[in-house]
Formats: sequence, C-alpha cells, structure tokens
Amino acid sequence: MSEPRTITVELGERSYPIVIGSGLLGGDFDLGAYLAGGDCLVVTNDTIAPLYLDTLEANLFGKSIETLTLPDGEAFKTLETMSGVLDKLVSSGANRDTTLVALGGGVIGDITGFAAACYMRGVAFIQVPTTLLAQVDSSVGGKTGVNHALGKNLIGAFHQPRVVLIDTRTLDTLPDRELSAGLAEVIKAGAIADAEFFEWLEDNIGALVARDPEALAHAVQRSCEIKAEVVSEDEREAGRRAILNFGHTFGHAIEHCQGYGEWLHGEAVAAGMVMAAGLSGIDQADIDRLQALLKAANLPVAPPAVGSQAMLDAMGMDKKVLDKQLRFVVLDKLGHATVTSDYDRSVLDAVLEAADG
Ligand code: NAD
Ligand code: GLY
Repeated sequence: MSEPRTITVELGERSYPIVIGSGLLGGDFDLGAYLAGGDCLVVTNDTIAPLYLDTLEANLFGKSIETLTLPDGEAFKTLETMSGVLDKLVSSGANRDTTLVALGGGVIGDITGFAAACYMRGVAFIQVPTTLLAQVDSSVGGKTGVNHALGKNLIGAFHQPRVVLIDTRTLDTLPDRELSAGLAEVIKAGAIADAEFFEWLEDNIGALVARDPEALAHAVQRSCEIKAEVVSEDEREAGRRAILNFGHTFGHAIEHCQGYGEWLHGEAVAAGMVMAAGLSGIDQADIDRLQALLKAANLPVAPPAVGSQAMLDAMGMDKKVLDKQLRFVVLDKLGHATVTSDYDRSVLDAVLEAADG
C-alpha cells in the first residue's frame, strides 16, 4: 500500500480529512478513532456488503458495530428507506454518541448522511465511498438527502462527515459504466476550476479508462482538492459552490425527462456539460476539447431525444431556479466557471434543440 494522501476540508471546528489510498480498507487505518463514541451503524447495500463489509469491519476493530444492508438502487433513495435507517438506530438503542458509517456509492452516502443529520437532531457520520462518483463528489461537502416522487434530492440537509475514507482499490470491482459516470465529475472539476488538470486529463484519459491505479489516485486527489476548496469557501451554496453544478441543470432535466435510472447521473451530466458549454459562448475549439475528452471517457455528448420543451419544463422545477429566472453555470473559459442568468434565450433554445433528436 502506498502512503495515503490527506486533504482537509477547512470548515473551522467542523473541518475534516479526506484520506485517499489504495488498500486502506482492511489495512491498519484506524477508522474507529473517528467515531464519536464506542459504537457505530454501518449502512451499505446488498451489492457492496459481500464485497467490502467484512473488510471495513477490520478498520473498526474494538468498536461495537451494527450493520444495515439496504436494497441497491437510486429507486430506494427515499424517505421510506431513510426512515428504515432511523428504525434501526432506535431499535438498536443508538444514542447521541453513535456514529453512522456510509459504505457505498452516492446513494448510500446521501441516505446515511441524511439519517445522521436527523437522528437525535444530528449524530456523527463517516463516508467510505466506493464509486468513483462518490469518491470525487458526493462524499465530500456535506450535502445529504433523498428524492421525492416529484424531484431528485428535494429533501435533505447539510451535514458534514467526520472523515472521508477513500480506498481507490474499491474501484477494481466497479462496472465500467459506473467508472465512466464518475469520470464525468472528474472532467467537470477540471472544466470549472483547473485548466492544467483538464489538460492532464486529456493526456491521461486512456490510463484512467484502463484503471491505472496511479492515474486514478491523482484524479481522485485533484478532484477532491478542488471540491474541498470550493466547499470551504461556500459551504451552504450561497454563491461559488454553485459552480459544482456545471452541466447539472441540463443533466437533471435529462434524468427527469427520461425517467431516473435510464442514464446514470454522470452520463446525464456529461451531455449536460456539453449543452452548458454551448450556452457559455466560449470558443468552439474548447467545446470540441470537452466533447473529445468526454467521448474518450465513453460518455454521451448529446442529450437523448426527450424533446426541448420537455427539458425546459423540467428545468423549471430545478432547485437552482431563483426568482423564476433560470440560472446556469457557464464557462468563461476552460478551467473557470461562473453562474449567470444573463444568457441569450435564442442560444439556450439552440442548445436545447439537440434534445429534439
Ligand atoms: P450508486 O450509489 O447508485 O452506485 C452505483 C452502483 O455501483 C450501485 O449499483 C452500487 O451498488 C454499485 N457499487 C458501488 N460501489 C461499488 C464497488 N466498489 N464495486 C461494485 N459495485 C459498486 O451511484 P453513485 O453514482 O455512486 O451516486 C449517485 C448518487 O449520488 C445520486 O443519488 C446523486 O444524486 C448523488 N449525488 C450526491 C451528491 C452530493 O453532493 N451529496 C453529489 C453528486 C451525486
Ligand atoms: N455536487 C454539488 C455539490 O456538492 O455542491
């Protein structure tokens, strides 16, 4: 195992480390040291439990461990499932010192974090993300929540973890499509905040798709550094944090119009980033670079034929709509993003035409 790398999310007394390494699970990393007390509830799902639950328990040696294995899938990211986590906490006699540990992808992290935010008005929690998307995005920054029948992530809370433990070796078992979906968020990080990293991705995308461990470790580290820096500056998304939603307004509309589960979140964000880049008014050459990089990561670069009006209607429901005015994250150039509601409506219509098939 190579030396773990640590990044700190600077949030005053709620600051926490993101520890990144290969082989951290089952190794001698003492996760128990981060528990609030002597006991914890590990929440995972039925795909991940057989792969990593026993391994993780080794990192909690000496602690009292309860486990809860949920069914796998975005369809279960609901209040009902979250309520089941609360039931388990109550029935096992959990108290204010109990720590919740999320072992899994973004779905498990979001549900578990939200349960931790609610139980006894807030107990400690730890993220052990096992998808690339969760390692570079959802496990960092404290957004937790569940879906409502009328929209994604409509119910939730900000609740920061005590530590994020990233074992990049868990990516060995991740299906190719899920790896690509995570690469969409990695590419997003470069596009919005670091032109040099974007170039590095262009040079190394083959290695990343081939799961080269060193390349993946660097991509996870740099993406986490970018996210940590943005979150430290604007924890509650009063301003700058919104740039992390680059491609997401279009992406969420794609997911909504298609029906959740058809395309993965990262796939919808990939096509959404190309649409948002089109709205940005940046050089066509830069849009071409973004498209080429996404394609090389086996990601879609255009929306499915769900219809431009349907997408527009769906965007009207987006939480990022302020004062009924659509706001978009756009690029001033590759490596720098801003949020604006000052866009040309005819350009938006032209971008949306791609969804008319
Ligand atoms: P996911 O949690 O559904 O995981 C994808 C699939 O991979 C699942 O079937 C899972 O069981 C499986 N899996 C996980 N780890 C594995 C491993 N190591 N080996 C084999 N299979 C594995 O999806 P995701 O892409 O991780 O997360 C998507 C969710 O994250 C969405 O609900 C999205 O809204 C949310 N999200 C939240 C934030 C945030 O800031 N909180 C940010 C981005 C996305
Ligand atoms: N994924 C967007 C954010 O964490 O703010």
